[in-house]
This record gives sequence, C-alpha cells and structure tokens, in this order.
Amino acid sequence: MNTELVGRDYKILPEVTSTNTAVKELNQEQELPEGFCLLSEYQTSGRGQYGKQWDSEPGQNLLMSLLLRPVFLSASESYRLTMSVCLALHDLGLELGFDSYIKWPNDWFYGEQKIAGVLAESSLRGSRMENCIVGIGINVRQKKFPHPQATSLSKIIGQDLAVQEVFEKLVVHLDNRYQQLRFKQYEGQHREFESILYGRDQWVPVLRDGQKLSLRCEGVNPGGELKVTWQDGRQETLQHQSIRFVF
Ligand code: BTN
Repeated sequence: MNTELVGRDYKILPEVTSTNTAVKELNQEQELPEGFCLLSEYQTSGRGQYGKQWDSEPGQNLLMSLLLRPVFLSASESYRLTMSVCLALHDLGLELGFDSYIKWPNDWFYGEQKIAGVLAESSLRGSRMENCIVGIGINVRQKKFPHPQATSLSKIIGQDLAVQEVFEKLVVHLDNRYQQLRFKQYEGQHREFESILYGRDQWVPVLRDGQKLSLRCEGVNPGGELKVTWQDGRQETLQHQSIRFVF
C-alpha cells in the first residue's frame, strides 16, 4: 500500500484463531516491520473487549490487526493511540458519506448501531509503550446480525462494498492519524476525539451497578478514563467497565 507506514506491508490469511494472536506469534518468530497488517477472512476465536467473543460471517467483514511501536507514548497515555484509531474510523465514515461517533472507550457507532470495535493489546518496556497490536473488526458486507444493535457499512450506505476496498481506504486514514500522533499533535486529536464522543452534548442513559442513571460525557483523559457529569450535578472520572451505555 502506498502509505508512509501503516499497511505498507500486509498479509491475508484465510483462517486464523484471532488476527491479534496471529500477529503476536508472527512477531515473536521474526520481528515484523512497524505498520504491518494481518487480515483474515475468518477467525475461529475472534476476541472482543473484556474477554468477549467477536463473531463474524466468513469473508463478509474486515478483520485485521495492525502492529505499531508507539515508543513515544508512555503507558499512562496509551489511550492516545486508541483515540487516533477511532478518529481514522470516523474519517472512513466521512469518506463513505456518513457521520458517526465513538461510544467510549472504542466502539464505532452509526445511530444506535455498532459498526466496528477496536481491541488494542500492548506490551511495555519500562513505563513506555513498545509493541501495540491494534485489532479492528469492521462490519462491511454482513446484512444479518444476532444483535439488533449491529450494522455494517454496506447497510448504512445502501451499497455493497468489497472488504479489500474498505481496507485500502482505512489504511490511508490510519496512516494519517498515526503520523499526526508521531508528530505529537496530541491536543488537536484529543479535541477532535472528544467532539465525536457519544453523550457529549446530551444526557444519555447508563447502567451502573444495575441502576439506570443519566450522565453527560465531558471528555476523556489520556489514560482512557471518561470524565462525566451526572444528572444530579456530581462530576466523576470513570474507569473502563464501570458503566454500560444503554439506548
Ligand atoms: C470490541 O468491540 O469488543 C472489539 C472487537 C475487536 C475485534 C477485532 S476483529 C480483528 C481483531 N482480532 C480479534 O480477535 N479481535 C479484533
């Protein structure tokens, strides 16, 4: 691919357990170049956030993992990488003609439906980030989902897209956003990310310890925590998994 770094080198395998696991193993056998992408048509044990499963119909969706070495980031600012990947997803949506948003911490949404998820797994060297494997699963052509809260790019734009075409478009955005990050354009990306965050301008319902409450998202911090205001006026910074958005 004709990019600076992301996707210059890539490989497609018909079947893997999980592209994240496969990239980790390949990189242990022989150090992979930064920006390497592995795509697969099918995963037998696709993984989502928080130990969940990620299922996808064979050949219908983009299942990829990207190897990055953001050594310029400390562990405490690891979420900056997730922010830039989410911005690239949002950029892809704009290129395809629709506006979208990110549901904290890393779900790509259109309306009330999820299009894609990101699973970033990092290793550290001391307090700095070393290898980061960014797994991205984008629903591309699949039309039927077991959950009503899922959709695909083809459903949104009303036209069938090829998985390879989506990959080629996405790597350009991932590459641009990663270059911005490497050149430390942190504040600009942070602001942009917060502007596409779900619940930024309105009260949204969430579940916390089984209780339904409303909050407004004020922003995130570089470690990935969510800054919120509760409807009773209290402010709080939330850790991953402490709430669940409900629609
Ligand atoms: C989530 O929303 O929970 C994250 C989903 C991430 C899924 C992708 S598909 C490609 C890569 N390989 C995996 O096993 N998971 C990620």
